[in-house]
Amino acid sequence: MTTLVRDAPARDNQVAQDSVLVLDFGSQYSQLIARRVREAKVYCELVPGGISADEVRRRAPRGLIFSGGPASVYDAGAPRPDPAVYELGIPILGICYGMQLLARDLGGEVQPATRREYGHASVNVDDDAGLFERLPRELSVWMSHGDIITRLPDGFRPIAHSLNSPCAAFAGPSGRFGIQFHVEVAHTPLGKDVLRNFLMNVCGCAGTWVPASFIEMAVADIRMRVGDGRVLCALSGGVDSAVAATLVHRAVGDQLTCVFVDNGLLRRGEGDRVVDVMSRQRHINLVHVDATNQFLEALRGVVDPEEKRRRIGRTFIRVFEEQARSLGDIGFLAQGTVYPDVIESTSHDTGSAQTIKTHHNVGGLPEDLRFTLVEPLRYLFKDEVRAVGSALGLPEDMVWRQPFPGPGLAIRVIGEVTAERLETLRAADWVVIDEVKRSGLYRKVWQSFAILTPVSSVGVMGDFRTYANVVAVRIVESEDGMTADWAKVPYDVLGVISRRIVNEVAGVNRVVYDISSKPPSTIEWE
Ligand code: XMP
Repeated sequence: MTTLVRDAPARDNQVAQDSVLVLDFGSQYSQLIARRVREAKVYCELVPGGISADEVRRRAPRGLIFSGGPASVYDAGAPRPDPAVYELGIPILGICYGMQLLARDLGGEVQPATRREYGHASVNVDDDAGLFERLPRELSVWMSHGDIITRLPDGFRPIAHSLNSPCAAFAGPSGRFGIQFHVEVAHTPLGKDVLRNFLMNVCGCAGTWVPASFIEMAVADIRMRVGDGRVLCALSGGVDSAVAATLVHRAVGDQLTCVFVDNGLLRRGEGDRVVDVMSRQRHINLVHVDATNQFLEALRGVVDPEEKRRRIGRTFIRVFEEQARSLGDIGFLAQGTVYPDVIESTSHDTGSAQTIKTHHNVGGLPEDLRFTLVEPLRYLFKDEVRAVGSALGLPEDMVWRQPFPGPGLAIRVIGEVTAERLETLRAADWVVIDEVKRSGLYRKVWQSFAILTPVSSVGVMGDFRTYANVVAVRIVESEDGMTADWAKVPYDVLGVISRRIVNEVAGVNRVVYDISSKPPSTIEWE
C-alpha cells in the first residue's frame, strides 16, 4: 500500500516536559497503563519495548514503565529493553513481566513458580517505600503470572508479599520498582493510587497535564512544521477530522484548505452541518464537493458489501485527487489519525520507526500528489480528542457524534443502493437518533442506527393492505467497537421508535430490533 509520507513526522512533537514512556512488551493491558497515567494528568506515550536508549534520552521522560507481556523472561527471544536504558538513571516501574525483566537484567533470578497465580489476590505491604504511601497495608489486587523472582539484584529489597509471591513488589536504587500485580486494571481498586505515587513521589511529575493543555503545544508544533506552507485536510463529518482541521486552522489560519467530499451517503442534515460549522461559523476555507451522483453511479447494481467499500474508496480518491490538483501547490495533508490507529500500526517487535496506517480515503494518490502528513491528534485517545474539540469550541453535537463508518449508509442499505432507498433509510435513521437522544441514551450507547433490509412484509394501514419495507434498528453498547452487546433499551423507547418510523417514513410498514451481540454478529449488517 502506498503511504503518503515524504518526511517521517517528528515523533516527539507533542511531548510535554513532564512525560512518561510506557515500554510495551506485549501485554493486553499496555494501552490501559498509558490511559491511567494520563488520567493522573501526566502526559504519556506507549512505545515499543525495544526502543533505543538514545531515543529515550532524546525524549527526556521523567519515568519509564515496563509493561507486562505474555513471554517468560527466560524464553529464547523474549522481548527485552535496550540494556543501555538502565544506565540513563531514569526511575523505572516494572509491572509483572516488566518486573521480572528488571530483576533479571539487573542481576537477580526469575524462575517458573510452583503455583501460578491468576485472578484476585491479596497483597501485604511490608514497607511503603514511597510507592505505597498513604495506602492500606493490605491491598486487593489482580495477578496474572506464572514466574516468580527467586533472587533480587544487589541493593534491591522486597516491599510486599502475597500468599504465592514472597516478593510481590520490590524497591531498588535510582527509583526502580517492580510490582507483580496489575495496577492498571479495574480489578486492582487502589492501582491508580500506586501508579500516582510512582509518578508524583518517585518521578516528581507535577500532574498538571490535561487534554486542553495539549492545544497550545499542538498549535506551536504545527506552526513550526508547516511554516508558510499550505495544508489540505479532508473533512468527513466525523469528530476526528473536524478537530484536526480546527487545530490546524488555529495554527495557520488561511494556509489551510479543507475539502469536504459529500458522497451522498451521510445521514440527514450532516453535510449541511459540516459546511455550516466549519465554513460559516469558523471561517475555514472549505471546498464543498457534492459528489452524490458519482458515488451512486459507482454503486449501481452492486450488492456485495466489500465491493461497495472498494468502489466508494476508489471514487473518493478520484474526486479528492481532482480537487487537490485544482488547488495548486500544497505541501501538507492534515489527518485526524488518533492514538489507537497509531498503536495498531506500530511495529512493536522491531522498535523501529512507526509504519503509518494509510487512511483508506487517501491511500494510493499519485506521486506528484504526495504530502507531508500533519497528524496533530496522533497521541490522543478518542475521549481526549473530544475534550480538545470542546475546548476548541466545536459544537457538542459534532464533538459527541457516534462513530459512523466511512462507507456510510451504503452498508446500511442492504442490497443495491439507490437514491430512493437511501432517502427511506435516512428518514428512519433520523427517528432512531431523535428518540435515542430524547431518552438520554445517545452518549451512553456506542452506536444507534437504522438498517434498510431487503425484505418486504405485509401490513395493514387503515383498511388497506400494504406490502412494504422492513427496517431494522440496531443499538449497541461497546467499549471500542471490537466487541459489542445489543442495548437493553426500555420497551417504551423502542415502541416510540417503531411507531414513528411506520407513521412517518413512507414505504416502511414493519420495524424489528436487532438483538445480536458481536461476536458472532458484527455491529454493521454489511
Ligand atoms: P463491525 O461492523 O465490524 O464494526 O462490527 C465495528 C466498527 O467499525 C465501523 N465500521 C467501519 N468504519 N469503514 C469505517 O470507517 C468501514 O468500512 C467500516 N465498517 C464498520 C462500525 O460502524 C463500528 O463502529
